[in-house]
Amino acid sequence: MTNDSKPTTFIIFGASGDLTERKLIPALFNSYCKQRLPEQFNIVGFARRPWDNAELRKILKEGMLELAPDAYDEEKWTPFAQNITYVQGDLNTQADFEKLREHLENIENGPANRLYYLAVAPRFFVPIVESLGTANMVDQNRGWRRVVVEKPFGHDLASAQELNKAIQAVFDEDQIYRIDHYLGKETAQNILYFRFANTIFEPVWNRNYVDNVQISVIESVDVGHRAGYYEEAGVVRDMFQNHLMQLLSLVAMEPPASFEANAVRNEKAKLFHAVRPLSLNHTVRAQYEGYLQTEQVAKGSQTPTYAAMELFIDNWRWQGVPFYLRSGKALTNKNTEIVVEFKRPPHIMFDGIVDEDFTANILSMCIQPDEGIHLRLEAKVPDSRKTQPVDMEFHYRSSFKGNNLPDAYERLLLDAVRGDASLFTRADGIEAAWRLMDPVIYGWENEAEAPPMATYKHGSWGPKEAHTLLNRSGRTWRHACSHPDE
Ligand code: BG6
Repeated sequence: MTNDSKPTTFIIFGASGDLTERKLIPALFNSYCKQRLPEQFNIVGFARRPWDNAELRKILKEGMLELAPDAYDEEKWTPFAQNITYVQGDLNTQADFEKLREHLENIENGPANRLYYLAVAPRFFVPIVESLGTANMVDQNRGWRRVVVEKPFGHDLASAQELNKAIQAVFDEDQIYRIDHYLGKETAQNILYFRFANTIFEPVWNRNYVDNVQISVIESVDVGHRAGYYEEAGVVRDMFQNHLMQLLSLVAMEPPASFEANAVRNEKAKLFHAVRPLSLNHTVRAQYEGYLQTEQVAKGSQTPTYAAMELFIDNWRWQGVPFYLRSGKALTNKNTEIVVEFKRPPHIMFDGIVDEDFTANILSMCIQPDEGIHLRLEAKVPDSRKTQPVDMEFHYRSSFKGNNLPDAYERLLLDAVRGDASLFTRADGIEAAWRLMDPVIYGWENEAEAPPMATYKHGSWGPKEAHTLLNRSGRTWRHACSHPDE
């Protein structure tokens, strides 16, 4: 699939972790089955556990059987797994990186490309990168060297800047792939195709026709066993700084001149710079009932598990159009949806119909789980003078029958191998997103300025304060993707 004929080695730091088993190996295996991996490849797991090749292969196979049983195919797994090897080592021990280098040179047996994947806790990002540098494993004379950095990328602007600096001291920016798996979702990518592969939407995609835009990333799962991590992160770091900001940029950015990585990322950067600093009065923070009783959650914790915010973009296209963002855990069901609500008709000419009877046109992009697009229109009810909203719908499951939507990691890993960074975040993009979220995160830590911590019931649509945020300007949260009504 790649036009570089050298073998490629995937080196996974954190091979014994959840991400490797859950996402990376299924993604690599699926790509292998679709014959999309380079013809010659190796997967090298690096971790502390006292395993050997056989043990790692066995564990990864069990993971596949448990987590991706439909994708598993014994006949293909056997030759695939032959390419997996293990190096036991400590992430803080330089000698273990030398051992890794020897192992790589042995199995590669000549020039080869390398993708270093940091599937580890963030405190190991810098030590790994520095050790790779010291062990002379970044030099590109014998093949390209790239590094994929998982989230969270920093915990605020200052730490993200430091992390960028430390990684850039070893790798060039074009070797660094900062992953945000939302960008690998087919439906997130489709936002740009929808906007720029059609002509009918772009003319109305602006302040003249759009009343407001809503981005909802609703999750039904609670923090579960991740409370230790979540307590430190909270919903703004966990979801807003990365996933919601990226969705916002896709919906609101100007058309790039090409789909080339830097052309796309330049437009995103411009968009982030045009976002007006958020006003804390227009934010909502909340915790679900029961969060405080979760194991590993501090007594009286102020970590928000839900947030909603209103923001504005100060440019010609969007001046005055509110963008509403919300996300939280332990909500009614899983649903990621972007709604563009259009303005109402300027004048209602139909007898007997009052303004309030009219629903504004709504364009809804369903990112997950029921991937597709809905356009809500007013239609005349037959044999009556009334109107009723109806939906024109497109669903991936019916329009592209038989095409399973690939997991985001599948696409992103292949893009990293191809050297296409358009779906990865550039240093300035990450920092710009933190620059917007820092005042919220730190503003909320200051009790005098922060909005009160609201609460909401497990399985609900979130706190009533999130509704008030819209209601005060006469708006409501909308959705068209299939799920029970709010
Ligand atoms: C991760 C967050 O980045 O995204 C999780 O850390 C969250 O808390 C997850 O559950 C949501 O991703 P998806 O693909 O399931 O919507």
